[in-house]
Amino acid sequence: MLKKKMNKDYTPLKETPNDHPIIDVIKNRWSPRVFADMPVSQTDLQSMFEAGRWAASSNNFQPWNIVWGIKGSETYNRIMDLLVEFNQSWTVNAPVLMLGVINTKTPDGKENYHALHDLGQFSAHMALQAHSMGIAIHQMAGVDFEAAKKEFEFPDEYHVATAIAAGYYGGDDDQLNEDLKKEENAPRERKKQNEFLFNGNYVKRESL
Ligand SMILES: Cc1cc2nc3c(=O)[nH]c(=O)nc-3n(C[C@H](O)[C@H](O)[C@H](O)COP(=O)(O)O)c2cc1C
Repeated sequence: MLKKKMNKDYTPLKETPNDHPIIDVIKNRWSPRVFADMPVSQTDLQSMFEAGRWAASSNNFQPWNIVWGIKGSETYNRIMDLLVEFNQSWTVNAPVLMLGVINTKTPDGKENYHALHDLGQFSAHMALQAHSMGIAIHQMAGVDFEAAKKEFEFPDEYHVATAIAAGYYGGDDDQLNEDLKKEENAPRERKKQNEFLFNGNYVKRESL
């Protein structure tokens, strides 16, 4: 990895061994566990949320709801308290914390089986917009989702699906333990295309 600097316009690049050409913002986005020691500006935050807002969703129901808090605020501390211990350990220097919450019902009260998919689209749009501004997003499943729903007074039909940390790239990975530091500097990995693509029937691929 390139040497890190505390600089809003600087993104530490991680090795991404893509097999086919992709646009830079997708190639270079990654999920760090350290962030530069500077607050995320209000205007950048608004652009991130705006990018999520323009994600596609089933029937345009837009089932996403985002709870957000900036470091030092009560909302931030309430979100932090809901994270599992492992995630609390590295989010300590995250300037922004969020919860990604879905409404599991359609406006006419039926099950919305695509709500989780649509929150994923919101998050991906937000992550790519953020990346283009030098901001990293790190999504988390490790959050007490039942407690979070109660804490932020969501009604029964809502589900807290993720927590999200955000901050400018460029933190100091010496803040991490050895294992996490190693992960921070390891190349990104993905399955090969032939492990998940089917140009016809699904075939179990034992060898992969
Ligand atoms: C829905 C979701 C849940 C995740 N949960 C956690 C988590 O609880 N803790 C964590 O450290 N990383 C978590 N991650 C980060 C993934 O491990 C990471 O995105 C993956 O290893 C790929 O790395 P990259 O985003 O840098 O390409 C999560 C990511 C997603 C999308």
